[in-house]
Amino acid sequence: MQREIDRSGLRVKAIGLGAMPLSIAGRPGPEQAFRVIEAFVDAGGNFIDTANVYCLDDGDIGHNERLIAYALTRLGRRDEVVVATKGGLRRPRGEWTVDGSPEWLRVSCEQSLAALGTDVITLYQLHAVDPAVDFRETLGALIALKAEGKIRHIGLSNVDAGQIETALAHTAIASVQNRCNPFSQGDFKNGLVDLCKTRGITYIAYSPVGGHFGYQRLGADPLLARLAAKHACSPQRIALSWLLHKGDHILPIPGASKPASILDSLPAMDLTLEPSDIEAIDRLPRG
Ligand SMILES: NC(=O)c1ccc[n+]([C@@H]2O[C@H](COP(=O)([O-])OP(=O)(O)OC[C@H]3O[C@@H](n4cnc5c(N)ncnc54)[C@H](OP(=O)(O)O)[C@@H]3O)[C@@H](O)[C@H]2O)c1
Repeated sequence: MQREIDRSGLRVKAIGLGAMPLSIAGRPGPEQAFRVIEAFVDAGGNFIDTANVYCLDDGDIGHNERLIAYALTRLGRRDEVVVATKGGLRRPRGEWTVDGSPEWLRVSCEQSLAALGTDVITLYQLHAVDPAVDFRETLGALIALKAEGKIRHIGLSNVDAGQIETALAHTAIASVQNRCNPFSQGDFKNGLVDLCKTRGITYIAYSPVGGHFGYQRLGADPLLARLAAKHACSPQRIALSWLLHKGDHILPIPGASKPASILDSLPAMDLTLEPSDIEAIDRLPRG
């Protein structure tokens, strides 16, 4: 099962690894982090989502990217795996703040190239739109980085339909990464997932099993628990399978800090849900 990232032929497996839990507060030690990446790649995974700001604070920028580069090099698998990173946030004192200025995007991109140990980033995503910066200026920085060959494809994250249309008027957009899971179905309701399909954009679903803090809620949901019992699997695998059934351009990126979590998630690619299962999840209360 594969997902296209864009029309230029880059294809990735239908479930990626969200690497954020390997580098933020509560992160595992380096050997456990390595084993998560090893488990994912050994099981056939070939898309890892990261960001310069997956770290503890501004003094730790690039932690996640360095970890991934180290792991893929140690495994001898660097060329097989698409590593998608992001720029446009900062981490002062461990907070998450937005900075979409062209200057910061350029610095961030150079730092990410160094942290990843590469000459070109396959997919570079704007982490969030900065309301204090003209969006066209932010886009201009990404377009310049692409023209210089530092990034191959541009992606957007945390955007609405209007921002996607604005960006498309200026450049090709390979991916959109937004929060999407059974309790966060807004992008299905407002047409954004369909818009991405129409425009040939891969929709990357982040926090697909409920989020860094919400995944236990998903595990405890009665409907998902019932479907998990019916299909003899975990509620998380049900949620991921539901996302995959909702569109062949959807790429969920479950996070994991333990090998067991990502190994449990990947078989969602082979799980077939019945239409009634999917409709029941569609009707789940949100919020
Ligand atoms: N663009 C953005 O603004 C943005 C925001 C948030 C996240 N993201 C990206 O999206 C990725 C995923 O989002 P997320 O980490 O926030 O939330 P998530 O994937 O919904 O949940 C992650 C947590 O769920 C647990 N989990 C995952 N699969 C499981 C399974 N099959 N069984 C049991 N537990 C399971 C993991 O636990 P363990 O830790 O115990 O393994 C993990 O810590 C991130 O890693 C990051 O790459 C992007």
